Amino acid sequence: MALLSWNESLIIDIQSIDFQHKHWVRLINELHEAMLQGRASQAIDQTLINALGYTRLHFATEERLLSENGYPTYNQHKKLHDDFINKILNLNDRLEKGHTVLAMELIGEMRNWLTEHIQTIDRQYVSFLKQKGVA
Ligand code: FEO
Repeated sequence: MALLSWNESLIIDIQSIDFQHKHWVRLINELHEAMLQGRASQAIDQTLINALGYTRLHFATEERLLSENGYPTYNQHKKLHDDFINKILNLNDRLEKGHTVLAMELIGEMRNWLTEHIQTIDRQYVSFLKQKGVA
């Protein structure tokens, strides 16, 4: 069973962003599945690299959209993105040093953050971007 199911509560109704969020959910489910199946750490590492890479890509896309349109709380939004990346990198460092119990903490952290961030923080910019003609 998937760790996180794509559902209406995650749709913000900006097509390009919904597309990326949906793919993000898929990657986190893949990471969870790899951990559950006890795959070799190399396979898990690669899945985590993919998830982190996509997270960076998504943040860059969203930040560009917000910056180009003069979103008033751009800096705060970007800081939340930066803090999240740093937190995951920190957990991953500890994981690499052999703290395997952290694997589920890491995945849980990603799921909770992603869900809450999309449903609250990302949702705040929707009407602003729509007024700017972003669909
Ligand atoms: Fe969709 Fe602010 O991340």
